[in-house]
Amino acid sequence: MPHMTVNGEAVEAAAEPRLLLSDFLRHTLGLTGTHVGCEHGVCGACTVLIDGRPARSCLALAVQCEGAEVVTVEGLEEGPLHAAFRRHFALQCGFCTAGILMSLTAFLRERPRPTEQEVREVLSGHLCRCTGYTPIVAAALDAADA
Ligand code: FES
Ligand code: FES
Repeated sequence: MPHMTVNGEAVEAAAEPRLLLSDFLRHTLGLTGTHVGCEHGVCGACTVLIDGRPARSCLALAVQCEGAEVVTVEGLEEGPLHAAFRRHFALQCGFCTAGILMSLTAFLRERPRPTEQEVREVLSGHLCRCTGYTPIVAAALDAADA
């Protein structure tokens, strides 16, 4: 029965010891904004913030997050990053988008004035099959400017 904070709210819910955090968020809590692609830590779609750091929720067990602060895409405030994604059409199917928003949110907090190369390095942990990445890079740099 892990206790954690999810998007600012205290959560206590039953979880089998082998339940993945991604499944806990999606199926137990109904937070389906976190997407699951590969379930192997490769695609980045399931990225959430655990204690402020981006983490693959398909590689964490729910019980490992005892006492942690978890933030999913539903918990992100609308801000310059969302606006820049819209402005640059930085999503198509949107499957990768939640994970990318989580990683970029954490990254831009630490590096508010990143180079394009640094943005591309962050995105190297995320697979997007639609956009070719160019508009995502542009959106991240635009959000940083804002
Ligand atoms: S679903 Fe977790 S990294 Fe792909
Ligand atoms: S927008 Fe479709 S996978 Fe990225």
